[in-house]
Amino acid sequence: MNIVVTGGAGFIGSNFIFHLLKKYPEYRVICVDKLTYAGNLSTLAPIMNNPNFKFYKLDICDRENIYKMFEEEHPDVVVNFAAESHVDRSIEDPSIFLQTNIIGTSVLMDACRKYGNIRYHQVSTDEVYGDLPLDRPDLFFTEETPIHTSSPYSSSKAGADLLVQAYHRTFNLPTTISRCSNNYGPYQFPEKLIPLMIINCLNNKPLPVYGKGLNVRDWLYVEDHCKAIDLIIHKGKIGEIYNVGGHNEMTNIDIVKLIVNKLGKSEDLITYVTDRKGHDLRYAIDPTKISNELGWLPETKFKDGIEKTIDWYLNNKDWWEPIISGEYMNYYEKMYSNR
Ligand code: NAD
Ligand code: TYD
Repeated sequence: MNIVVTGGAGFIGSNFIFHLLKKYPEYRVICVDKLTYAGNLSTLAPIMNNPNFKFYKLDICDRENIYKMFEEEHPDVVVNFAAESHVDRSIEDPSIFLQTNIIGTSVLMDACRKYGNIRYHQVSTDEVYGDLPLDRPDLFFTEETPIHTSSPYSSSKAGADLLVQAYHRTFNLPTTISRCSNNYGPYQFPEKLIPLMIINCLNNKPLPVYGKGLNVRDWLYVEDHCKAIDLIIHKGKIGEIYNVGGHNEMTNIDIVKLIVNKLGKSEDLITYVTDRKGHDLRYAIDPTKISNELGWLPETKFKDGIEKTIDWYLNNKDWWEPIISGEYMNYYEKMYSNR
């Protein structure tokens, strides 16, 4: 089996490639990544010489070279993780989000149509459902919840999802979509909440909490997400959408305090800053469908996952120190200095 994984130099894509190579030693995994600021080739260094792995530095919007890659690699399955993924950046400048997340998805699916109606999986997000009120803990996102986006990021992901469903209905492309809640774990770029707070804590820097810190996210350990996608590409029903989440809702402030305490730092580092524009209040997934149909259940409890994650950042400074000393510092200054 030849599996093309796009965005494989990023956080979840790289974890997914490690999962595939370990579990299926007979598969060939072909990673396609543009290596934007969020892509990091050093993450893939340990597998670069694996004969079952191949890396292409390539933009998913580059139709000509994507077609050439399909001609060379003959994929059986394409799993699309490649995306601009950070909400705050999408508020600063939406255009690249539309380009990569929507146009890129269409190029990949056109290639799948052209080279033999290839199986296509779209890695989407629970953010396409918008948000839930904080005072209705009984409400959850199901696959039937209407799309109702808040940010340019989630709108671009929703646009891609609609295109995937259109390609399935109109061209009979064998597609599936997964919509997962917030992931955490090793190799997450330090602009996202959990690694940002761990790294700032380690450097005794202020911990910028948006608004009052009462927004709720439903956190899932990245390996559990990878296992869900593995199940969907092997056993999922064509044309279907699967929600993925672990019923692990937490407020941002509780997460930040937990990290501070685990690292033995002072809560005085916590700094409340101006809220994100259009900030979604609460995300919460109902994973009944994937549990009932495919037998998926989250395996890593948050208390174990967050410890593993903190330990990983403590033990892998070589991975993140070059990131925070480079271009990322300019981003950080721009986003946080006058907040
Ligand atoms: P990430 O930002 O860490 O990685 C994205 C990767 O895509 C990077 O390696 C980047 O170089 C690559 N990329 C960006 N534009 C590209 C292009 N035009 N062509 C080829 N490669 C390109 O993102 P992530 O957190 O790993 O998220 C992966 C996917 O999962 C995204 O589609 C995201 O929407 C979705 N998702 C993420 C989460 C989460 O909590 N992180 C939750 C649900 C869904
Ligand atoms: P983030 O990791 O950007 O994921 P998403 O917005 O896709 O859920 O943010 C998670 C939550 O943490 C979100 O409610 C915004 C909040 N947040 C902060 O309070 N401070 C920060 O510096 C960041 C990056 C996020």
